Amino acid sequence: MILVSQRSKRDLSAELFRTSEAIFRCPVCGKDMKVVGTESMACPQHHTFDFTRQGYLNLTTRMVKTNYDRNLFTARKRIMGDYGFFNPALDQIVSLIGQAHPVHTEPFYLLDMGCGEGSHLSRICERLRSRNKVSVTGIGMDLAKTGIHEAAANYPGTLWTVADLADPPLKPHTAGLILNILSPSNYQVFKQLLTENGLLIKVVPGNDYLKELRSFFYEGTVKATYSNKEIIKNLKNHLEIREVIPIRYTRRLDRDGLKALSRMTPLAWKMGKDRVEQWLNTGISEVTVDLVLIVAGKRQMPE
Ligand SMILES: C[S@@+](CC[C@H](N)C(=O)[O-])C[C@H]1O[C@@H](n2cnc3c(N)ncnc32)[C@H](O)[C@@H]1O
Ligand SMILES: [Zn+2]
Repeated sequence: MILVSQRSKRDLSAELFRTSEAIFRCPVCGKDMKVVGTESMACPQHHTFDFTRQGYLNLTTRMVKTNYDRNLFTARKRIMGDYGFFNPALDQIVSLIGQAHPVHTEPFYLLDMGCGEGSHLSRICERLRSRNKVSVTGIGMDLAKTGIHEAAANYPGTLWTVADLADPPLKPHTAGLILNILSPSNYQVFKQLLTENGLLIKVVPGNDYLKELRSFFYEGTVKATYSNKEIIKNLKNHLEIREVIPIRYTRRLDRDGLKALSRMTPLAWKMGKDRVEQWLNTGISEVTVDLVLIVAGKRQMPE
């Protein structure tokens, strides 16, 4: 039984990639790619990339070690799903995209750069389709194979790819919208990938993002405070900022939720179990989610 569903997951995914194969370029030679049967995607030079059982494509050309492991992505999925940790931010993103791509406009690709375990992208696309009747195809890209594996296993219907966002296997001017949530950026690349009127929605931490963790674990060090000024300055050098939307709220978490939170954020990674236990024993029950949503597009040339 399991084999049948895994097989069909791969078949379905191959079908989905086939309808979008025109936007991909070979990560080795840059040539066009075509889906071959339900097995793989390949270029005319026979650089071949096989679909996995879960239906994703590994389009990297070198082994990359990342700090993001399966535990982290499982914790992240839990905190986003069971605790709705990012729901207000996702609501805002859906509404922004709804405004940018109103009902009945052209179909477009929504590319999530550094999508992790994929739940944000999958939820956003689902809601855009059902609520805003938008024809959107999601592409999730991340360097961490464990994240993309989780994404493909849990959320079929999106093009999931393991790839470096600094060298994506996509042709220029293909993304109507790029999402980049708490992940690194390469604005040069993003600019190239965006369609002429395409938009980047980047989510960065605000000064108080998870301040309850930060102040406990980093008290007395430079990491006790955070500023996103440099990130915003860097973005401005490449793209035109259209809107900056602060989102701030608190979330109550039980002990299990707090534990999951400590596993999902790089802020607590290096802390030993004892230190995390001490934090849990401070009686903490609420954490601050402070995010800044930046909407940016290509600079409009003067007429
Ligand atoms: C803090 S996580 C955020 C994941 C997801 N956007 C979310 O909000 O749950 C940062 C992600 O960026 C990914 N990442 C880091 N460098 C990358 C690169 N060069 N190319 C693609 N993904 C990268 C990591 O693997 C990780 O999944
Ligand atoms: Zn090739």
